[in-house]
Amino acid sequence: MAFNDIFLRACRGEKTSPIPVWFMRQAGRYLPEYQEIRGKADFLTMCKTPELAAEVTLQPVELLGVDAAILFSDILIPLEPMGINLSFKEGKGPIIEPSVRSERELKALKKIEPERDVPFVLETIRILRRELSDKVPLIGFAGAPFTLATYLIEGGTTKSFVNIKEMLFSAPGLFRKVLDLITEVTISYLSAQIDAGVQAIQLFDTWAGILTRHDFKDAALTYARRVFNSLKGRGVPLIYFVFNGGHLLDLIRQSGADVIGLDWRTDIETALKVLGPDVIIQGNLDPCLLFLDEERLRDRILEIIYQGYGAKAHVFNLGHGVLPQIPPEKVRLAIEMIHDLSR
Ligand code: CP3
Repeated sequence: MAFNDIFLRACRGEKTSPIPVWFMRQAGRYLPEYQEIRGKADFLTMCKTPELAAEVTLQPVELLGVDAAILFSDILIPLEPMGINLSFKEGKGPIIEPSVRSERELKALKKIEPERDVPFVLETIRILRRELSDKVPLIGFAGAPFTLATYLIEGGTTKSFVNIKEMLFSAPGLFRKVLDLITEVTISYLSAQIDAGVQAIQLFDTWAGILTRHDFKDAALTYARRVFNSLKGRGVPLIYFVFNGGHLLDLIRQSGADVIGLDWRTDIETALKVLGPDVIIQGNLDPCLLFLDEERLRDRILEIIYQGYGAKAHVFNLGHGVLPQIPPEKVRLAIEMIHDLSR
């Protein structure tokens, strides 16, 4: 098989036929093949065992026909070697202990040396590059500094974000120090992923959308931009995905990323009114639309493809991750339709 580079070409601004597609969380619980491996190992063990992580990364490439693979890992992985205890409790999401809310807790955090501290991630990447050499490109990723800080400061999932906002507004000096450290860790982590062979990078800013425009600039954009600026010369496309970021688009454009990821709330046509036509867009099918019947799903996919033509280039994706409830055949069908309709 010849190497399929339409994802990389679209990330560099080329209009391809068909357009490329990959899905966030394309490796995951909705796939029985994933469940089979997950039945024998817990999630963190899977992330830390290169053969298993590589195997589940490859599943959607083989089963679904996506145009890019994304490293199987988690944005929280670099927190552990910083000195944090990380666990996943069924139904409760991630738990981070201790949460970092004072100078004292910040002082206990360490910078990471990726080759020493997360060798399993780099080894997974090396295995995958060998396995994917005649298939598709490999995407590496990290959490954006603000989103990682949210987990670190809240200690897990939150609805109110009161602890991180309290620190931002009542202890801005401490907030800055926490974010500076996370930013430095993120840059060295992503830089090591690029050295190991990833061919594109996505920065996930899952929680930055809770911020006002004013605070997004200070608390999220500043640090994301620092990450992108540091990686700019490395020759890999940089994608910035801010979940719930419709009110932030013009600011997101200033991040220095090459590709802007959109969730489903802002349609591409509306986004392009703010961004202008000279942008490369990734997105943005509502993951729940995969519950539609085939005919209706086709209409909604077509709508997104049409709107995407208004951009310089378009990488099709969901507006957030694949949900565990979606039948895998539907995901495969959607990918086939995206290819057929955009050809
Ligand atoms: O997209 C992919 O296929 C690559 C792998 C990937 C995972 N997490 C695997 C995963 C990626 C890119 C992530 C990113 C991630 N992780 C984000 C940013 C994207 C987003 O969803 O907004 C965030 C916020 C996390 C943190 C995280 N990891 C949470 C909140 C959870 C628990 C929620 C849940 O579904 O239980 C995880 C666990 C996780 N990360 C799973 C997978 C496949 C489920 C683990 C399992 O139980 O098998």
